[in-house]
Amino acid sequence: MAKRAGNIVAKFRINRFWSALITLVVIYAIVKWLIPAVSRWMTDLPFPLTVPGELIKIYMILAVVAMILLVTFSQKHLDEFLRPVLKFLRAEYGQIPRAVVLLLISLVIGYITYGVAVPTSETPISLRIQHPSSNFPKKFEDLKNPAADPPEAEVAAFIEQAKANDIALIAQVATDVEHWLEENPDGHMLSFLPTAPVKKFLAELDSGEVSMATAKAALIEKNLFEGRALYAMNCRACHGDSVSGDGPMADGFKLRPINFTDNGTIETIVEGYTFWRVMNGGPGLPVEATPWDSAMPEWKLSLTEEERWKIIMAEYDLAEKTPRIPEGH
Ligand code: HEC
Repeated sequence: MAKRAGNIVAKFRINRFWSALITLVVIYAIVKWLIPAVSRWMTDLPFPLTVPGELIKIYMILAVVAMILLVTFSQKHLDEFLRPVLKFLRAEYGQIPRAVVLLLISLVIGYITYGVAVPTSETPISLRIQHPSSNFPKKFEDLKNPAADPPEAEVAAFIEQAKANDIALIAQVATDVEHWLEENPDGHMLSFLPTAPVKKFLAELDSGEVSMATAKAALIEKNLFEGRALYAMNCRACHGDSVSGDGPMADGFKLRPINFTDNGTIETIVEGYTFWRVMNGGPGLPVEATPWDSAMPEWKLSLTEEERWKIIMAEYDLAEKTPRIPEGH
């Protein structure tokens, strides 16, 4: 019985050389493809979380060291490992395969050496272009921020909501406002936002005579409130409370998050450009914006268009800046 089991094992046993090689390939495949695939499945993100290249290198070096230890454990193991290699070198598998494999190995090593040794200082180090436009779609240039200038129909709808005391709010702030309302059940829902334009709007609402202009100003205040909340949730970590690029995460990046209070940043660009930059983040930048890659996230993946416009309005407001007016206006 034991002998038979032994025979079966012997039948499926492969040479140590091939098992070492296959083990290394399997470990590489796990680190390179399986871990990112599992991470994607676990996080539900629309992209995999890749293992950094340096980490893959470390894993592979450890795996190779482990294989060397395993193979050199005894003379018998080592002989077994070397057997196919020696057979190959003595051309026992044929002259042509030997020549082809040796040629391939030389070419691969030559290619790697070339990659390492080729001079990399050919292109002069240039200043990074902060506002590259080579891949900026022209159609974005004239975009106006709908949150900062809501159309009449939206203002009219807002007046109706205010009359019914049921203002629509983005989900991210709705719960907080609900909590506030539980503690302050008297009065109008909008009084959670006690700024002058809102107060004026509520007074007009009481008197029964609401002007579109007052309602619009109050709606803009509400949009701004939502934009600020979204900024605090999404952008503050990098761009900071003071919008000057000094958030708690800012020091971790070689290319610092932008200081929006600086005159050379969001003030010199049209709003449509800011919208495009926020939408596509670092991954959307063309090569002129290198050598340091931007850590700015690709916000179109996690914020709706409405939310992005509201944040942009808050961003300009917090920085006390106005966007550049598009040419021809
Ligand atoms: C992980 C850090 C990080 C977060 C979070 C982040 N940013 Fe950025 N942002 C950067 C970095 C770094 C830059 C500078 C490099 C560049 O221009 O892409 C930048 C640049 C920008 C620019 C370009 C400004 C200019 O003048 O070119 C805008 C606009 C911007 N961020 C808006 C936002 C908004 C809005 C949010 C939140 C929705 C946000 N950022 C969140 C890191 C971040």
